[in-house]
This record gives sequence, C-alpha cells and structure tokens, in this order.
Amino acid sequence: MDTYDKNIKKILKKLRPDIELWLKENVSENRRNHILRVAKTAKKYARKLGLDVYKAELSGLLHDLAKELTNEKLLEISKTNNLEFDEIDLDNPHILHARVGEILAKEKFGINDPDVLGGIRCHTLAEPNMSKIMMVVYLADATEPGRDKKFAGSAKKVFKEKGLEAGVLEAINMKLKDVINRGKKIHLLTIKARNWLLSNL
Ligand SMILES: [Fe+2]
Ligand SMILES: [Fe+2]
Repeated sequence: MDTYDKNIKKILKKLRPDIELWLKENVSENRRNHILRVAKTAKKYARKLGLDVYKAELSGLLHDLAKELTNEKLLEISKTNNLEFDEIDLDNPHILHARVGEILAKEKFGINDPDVLGGIRCHTLAEPNMSKIMMVVYLADATEPGRDKKFAGSAKKVFKEKGLEAGVLEAINMKLKDVINRGKKIHLLTIKARNWLLSNL
C-alpha cells in the first residue's frame, strides 16, 4: 500500500485538467511532453521508494510552468515577489524558471504543500535539505526517458544500485561537469546541495 496524503490526491484529481489545459496554452508541445514524462517518472520513483506518489506526480506536472517565460518576465516576477537572486542568476535568468515556477504554482493553482512546491523550486539547481519528494522530482527531471542516455544513464544506474541520495548526487555531478565543460559559472545552491548530500550519504 502506498502512503499518501488524501488531500493531495484530491487536489491532483481536481487540478489535473486545469493544469493540462494551462500547459497546452502556455508551453510548447515538446516541453509539455517532457513535463508529462517527468510527472510519470517522478510517480514511478516515488512508488518504488514507498513515498507519496500523488505529491511526486503533482510536483512533476507543475515543475516547468515558468520554463518558457522570457528572461525579462522571469526577472520581473522575481523582483515583484522579492526573490533573492545573485550575479549568477542575473548572468543566466533562465535558471530562475524553477523558483518562478514555484510562485506560479501558488498563484495559479493554489498549491501550498512544501514538498510539491519544493520539488518545483529545486528541480534545476537542487538545494540543501531537500525532502525525499523534492529529490525524486529533481532526479525525474534529470533522467526522464526523453533525456540524453549519455547524460541520464549514470544517474539512473546509481539510483538503482545505491538509492535516491546517491542518484541525485550523481545527477548533480553530471550537470556540474557539463557546466564546467561549457565554461559557465556554478550556482552556489548546487554546491551547497552537493556538500549537503556528501555529508548525509
Ligand atoms: Fe526546468
Ligand atoms: Fe524540466
């Protein structure tokens, strides 16, 4: 038997058609397909780990709400909502889409569950003290079946063999290698998340 929050199950059932309609109107078909794969993958991982499948699925469905907003819009929403952002965010405002996605999930769909919101917020950069559901969403985004096998394969393998935390650490390591290869700055949240995982493995 899965353990789950009955309230979230109800919210997911009620909101699903609205979320799908919103995605149809606001994000491209490719992105929508990615989002649906992330939701499905997050649900699968949560089930495997005995976590709340409905929280994982809902967070996956909402994780990229802000993915296709322009940098200007992302910065505007961040400022209006007093989000803290630094020079690395300003260099590449696109990474704000995760934190802005959390704001949209609250505003447009009335979400207030910390795991669901946290999964949206941390899916790009990760963060320290992630809950298990948050890690599931992070890992699902990095390893859904549409991702490049070269990139996702090792995180999936480590997840299978060594568990959730190790899988998330591997996904972070893969992303960091890519960021370094592209000569980009590393976001401090990712470094803190990685240190936190290393201390807790
Ligand atoms: Fe994203
Ligand atoms: Fe995504």
